[in-house]
Amino acid sequence: MYIGVDYYPEHWSKERWELDALLMHSAGFNVVRMAEFSWVFMEPEEGKFQFDWLDEVLDLLAKHEIQAILGTPTAVMPAWMAKKYPDSLAVDKYGNRLVWGVRKNNCFSSMSYNLLSERIIKTMAEHFSKISNVIGWQIDNEFGGPICYCEICHKNFQEWLKNKYQSIENLNKSLGTHFWGHKFNYWNEIPIPDDMNTHNPGLCLDWKRFCSWMNVKFQHNQVKILRELCPKHFITHNFMGLYPDINYYDLSEDLDHVSWDNYPVWKDNPFNEKQEIFYGASLSADVMRGLKQKNFWIMEQTAGPGGWGSFGRNTLPGEIKKISYQQLAHGADGIIWFRWRTCTAGREQYWHGLLGHDGKPLRRYKEAAETSREFHMIENEIKDTAIKTQAAIIYDYDSIWATQIQPSFDGNNYVENIHRYYNALLRQGINVDIIKQDEDFSKYKIIIASSLYILKKSTADKITTYVKNGGIFLTDFRSGVKNETNICYDITLPGLLTDVLGIEIEEYSAIPLNTEYPIKNVDGNEYHAIKYMDWITVKNAEVLANYQVQYLNNFAALTKNNFGKGRAYYAGTIIKEENFYDELIENILKDSGISSVIKPPLGVEISIRQDSSKILIFLINHTINKKEVKVPSGAEILINLERIKDTIILEPFGVEVIKIKKVL
Ligand code: GLA
Ligand code: ZN
Repeated sequence: MYIGVDYYPEHWSKERWELDALLMHSAGFNVVRMAEFSWVFMEPEEGKFQFDWLDEVLDLLAKHEIQAILGTPTAVMPAWMAKKYPDSLAVDKYGNRLVWGVRKNNCFSSMSYNLLSERIIKTMAEHFSKISNVIGWQIDNEFGGPICYCEICHKNFQEWLKNKYQSIENLNKSLGTHFWGHKFNYWNEIPIPDDMNTHNPGLCLDWKRFCSWMNVKFQHNQVKILRELCPKHFITHNFMGLYPDINYYDLSEDLDHVSWDNYPVWKDNPFNEKQEIFYGASLSADVMRGLKQKNFWIMEQTAGPGGWGSFGRNTLPGEIKKISYQQLAHGADGIIWFRWRTCTAGREQYWHGLLGHDGKPLRRYKEAAETSREFHMIENEIKDTAIKTQAAIIYDYDSIWATQIQPSFDGNNYVENIHRYYNALLRQGINVDIIKQDEDFSKYKIIIASSLYILKKSTADKITTYVKNGGIFLTDFRSGVKNETNICYDITLPGLLTDVLGIEIEEYSAIPLNTEYPIKNVDGNEYHAIKYMDWITVKNAEVLANYQVQYLNNFAALTKNNFGKGRAYYAGTIIKEENFYDELIENILKDSGISSVIKPPLGVEISIRQDSSKILIFLINHTINKKEVKVPSGAEILINLERIKDTIILEPFGVEVIKIKKVL
């Protein structure tokens, strides 16, 4: 298993390098990521390359059995480049070139930026392919922006549209440009929609797709070079979890595996009075795993307080370990802490690493070393295990973008919508796969599609077949409203899902701020609808909950339809109370026959990795209280070996891994 740190040897004097390598080695670290911001140190002047400093570091690391992932340095172009080739810099929407500095200020269409990027990568690849402790590459750093409005990007957008729609008539029809007289005669009349909330929604969605595609294409060009020159090295990129502006399914396609940067303690309350799991870090991990349906790495793992000007809270004792176990539990196969040592200069002086400014191996270092020791202890058990589950949630970038462009109602947040179901599943101790619309649905017993705003006809057909064949499907408000060009379907909602859901929604309404509509379910429990409601009438479906409000009490809030061999549920609103979702998920799990191995106590997360012979159950206490967990008899305790009882006591932030052999 690979465990290590993000290392910036160029921040420190040479004399320190040996001690760094020694300390890393004694912590059990066997990998570093380096060089992703070092373009100017590798090409100090145009066309003059200099790798000796990095060779020296690599050599030293090799002596201490540490391997390296190198970042391609394209996230920060050298100052000489911005000066000599100003077209390398992006242009903002007012036509001004960005000021060089910070990072990621390039224009992806710029010929100079592309050619110079290609050359540094080729030169690096040729050089480092021969160095034996280089094992892989990280392309660029955290793709995302900038949005460039320069003339070349504008032209490329028009070309991209031409390629997609073939004829201007087809574009006009597909995007509905008859509205407000926005019809185009020629491709060169098409603007960059510079305000996502006022321009043509279809054009806005295409602009989002185009910007995402530019990142994918830029990465693709780098991958092509590296594949050719470094066939033995793996290639990855450090993704940003739930970052919404790039279609991560597309971005992951060329890579061997996905890596991501996990900073969960940023703003949360350490005392966690609500006894919550770090849901965001789990969902992000599952989204990351879902991109390629494959385990992932953490390329930057929280070490200490982070911030560029002001910093957030520090990791409490035990937390560094807990944060890492949570990721291991969700499919991480490599963990790299950001960063090795807190830098004394530059914008990130307060983004703290395992070591402080003083470079001493103190508490955070020791905790990471202990985590590393434990991970190595169980690495043979973990090797080749994966998460296998029969519950999936669809995560869809088109719907995310269309929701940004036209949210439908105030406060509609795609990720929050997903979280309501996801969190409830986690509280039941059930792992979730995150999937795209195009995934094979037949592997799953439950599929949840929250806010599937943009619904492809082919997906609607797949859903119908899936339920017909016995699947359990749950969807909710604003799903199936629009087609792929961001135009509303001209069929009564829920549109293409009407048959399978057995309901009709002739009208709908936002619920004003500070207003709640009481609803009651079939068990007599009362909840409150907020923000939005569909006016649902049932055709074939059963009503599971309805409104208790004058004028609206004919409408259902939650329905269930028996369809073929399966069931399709529809929730037409947002419910304020979390336990509404607990109850709903519990019922759906029962309906599908999925049960959890352990129902965790509040604030404890369960996740299972498995192979053909065993399951490994990860128990993670997210609270500062002791927790008791009953484990199945015959379970083997892998971390804190002394406990061989059927009840495990988890200390504050405590973790445990237990193993149960499968009966073959
Ligand atoms: C990101 C980047 C790192 C660093 C950290 C902290 O994750 O990839 O280079 O900037 O944020 O700001
Ligand atoms: Zn540009």
